[in-house]
Amino acid sequence: MKKVLAVVAVASLMAAATVAGAASIKNSKHDLSSTGGQTVRGDTNQLCVFCHTPHNAVQNGYPLWNRSNPAGSAFKLYSSSGMQNGYTAGGNAGASTGFTADSVSLYCMSCHDGVTSVGAVYNKPADKLSGITMQGTKADGSLLGTSTANLGTDLQNDHPVNFNVTSNLDPAIAPLSGATMKTSDITNALPLFKSARGNTSLECASCHAVHDPANVPFLRTTIEGSKLCLGCHIK
Ligand code: HEC
Ligand code: HEC
Ligand code: HEC
Ligand code: HEC
Repeated sequence: MKKVLAVVAVASLMAAATVAGAASIKNSKHDLSSTGGQTVRGDTNQLCVFCHTPHNAVQNGYPLWNRSNPAGSAFKLYSSSGMQNGYTAGGNAGASTGFTADSVSLYCMSCHDGVTSVGAVYNKPADKLSGITMQGTKADGSLLGTSTANLGTDLQNDHPVNFNVTSNLDPAIAPLSGATMKTSDITNALPLFKSARGNTSLECASCHAVHDPANVPFLRTTIEGSKLCLGCHIK
């Protein structure tokens, strides 16, 4: 009997893993509403408003952004002599001069830089027209120095982002299919984005699913067995 129970438990664990992509942003670390139950939270009952607005977005394009981003030039990004894709448009190697203004990664850094207030939204929520007040942060609303989510502005020791990936430039990198990358190690292709670097720009959101906490910390696929890394690196 015990054995049967164990099998049932394993089967339901596997079922949970299969539907892992379906978890909600609600009550995750990105639910910054007053009812989200997180340490870092604001005093509004809305959650999308921290990042999106239905009208009068700050960016004309994707993704209806509701935050005034810091200047891209305030950041330093990783580069190396081994890296074959780079920071000049078209994908050739070249040192970074910071983020392009339209980089989806810069959107992330509008909270993760430890400088900008998490509650600094462009269009204020209906229940807090005077502005959002944060808690679990510094007095100015920015992330605490002790938060591991505070990446700072020097990203030279972080995986490269905001560079254009060009097919076959590095043979040890997964082939591109449209604006995605995938090896046989993963099920779902990892997305690339549009930026001033090109149409296949690798960004934070290539590895992270900002709305989906199923694979902690907001990963596109599990890091178990380094699966995420093997999704792009042929190693
Ligand atoms: C912490 C910031 C943040 C919050 C909160 C957030 N989003 Fe997003 N959202 C983003 C970013 C960044 C992108 C672009 C990157 C990407 O697509 O992964 C995005 C993209 C999107 C997109 C377009 C791409 C896609 O995944 O379909 C939709 C639709 C969207 N968000 C809806 C929502 C809704 C609805 C909510 C509230 C329930 C919400 N988001 C909450 C940051 C956020
Ligand atoms: C979405 C695809 C993708 C994922 C996932 C990914 N990488 Fe990368 N990585 C790249 C690309 C593209 C480059 C740039 C390669 C080049 O230009 O030669 C890169 C660069 C690197 C470099 C620097 C290489 C150099 O020449 O300086 C290292 C090291 C690295 N990745 C390790 C990792 C690890 C470890 C993981 C998992 C935690 C990971 N990557 C996940 C796409 C990815
Ligand atoms: C509106 C502000 C905001 C934006 C925009 C934002 N985040 Fe976050 N993020 C947070 C906060 C707040 C936390 C929790 C910090 C803490 O607990 O100290 C967090 C936590 C995280 C974590 C850690 C999750 C865990 O389980 O430990 C990851 C990973 C993350 N964010 C990635 C991203 C990425 C990638 C983007 C852009 C696609 C992004 N975030 C955009 C506010 C934001
Ligand atoms: C190549 C894939 C990849 C890229 C690109 C990437 N991350 Fe991550 N990130 C990870 C992985 C994997 C982890 C989990 C690491 C661990 O648990 O040791 C992580 C962890 C984090 C955390 C949790 C804190 C920590 O240090 O563990 C935050 C916050 C975060 N990433 C934000 C970002 C932001 C913002 C960007 C863009 C500037 C970004 N990430 C780009 C793969 C990536």
